Amino acid sequence: MKIMVIAGSPTAESRTRGIAQYAAEVLREMNVEVLYFDVGIDRLPLFTGDATSAENETVKKLADYAEQADGFFVTSPEYHSGMSGALKNALDFLGGKHFKNKPSAIAVAAGGGKGGINALANLRTVLRGIYSLVIPDQYVADPVNFDEGNVLVDELAQTRVRELATQLKELTELVSANKAKN
Ligand SMILES: Cc1cc2nc3c(=O)[nH]c(=O)nc-3n(C[C@H](O)[C@H](O)[C@H](O)COP(=O)(O)O)c2cc1C
Repeated sequence: MKIMVIAGSPTAESRTRGIAQYAAEVLREMNVEVLYFDVGIDRLPLFTGDATSAENETVKKLADYAEQADGFFVTSPEYHSGMSGALKNALDFLGGKHFKNKPSAIAVAAGGGKGGINALANLRTVLRGIYSLVIPDQYVADPVNFDEGNVLVDELAQTRVRELATQLKELTELVSANKAKN
């Protein structure tokens, strides 16, 4: 089974990356093959709808990983009550062809003070728009859950990401087994 983990923050020092890296670690421990894509490192051009962008190496990597993936673990910072523009830009290069009937888990990094829920709702809406099966559970990490290097160190936060990864793996297995039957 292959799960694509998407780190959805454009920043160099990113807490979102801390969530994505922890999710990738946990999934690998569960013997899942992880396809890791980080929009802050794998810099995409701006989506313009121009067909020539399909020849861009980073766009190719994004589309290739998404096509191979049986499921997705998508992370984002909350910026102005939504997902990051960088992540939305990445998702605009993809669509139902990549996500239809494939499960997704979602988690966001927010600023504390009860932020994060709007980015989760935004991410859920957009993933529904490309026909992904977004699992009902979701998670917001606050700055206190990370160390100074943006590693997700808080035990409860780690448990919640592990729970999301477990649910994602289980649903992806079920969906993949059903697809194999039909
Ligand atoms: C442009 C911008 C907008 C933000 N808007 C929100 C917000 O609406 N709600 C919130 O909880 N935090 C907000 N924050 C704080 C970030 O969500 C928080 O710092 C998060 O950890 C950033 O993740 P990153 O380091 O991966 O980019 C904002 C930060 C920036 C830079």
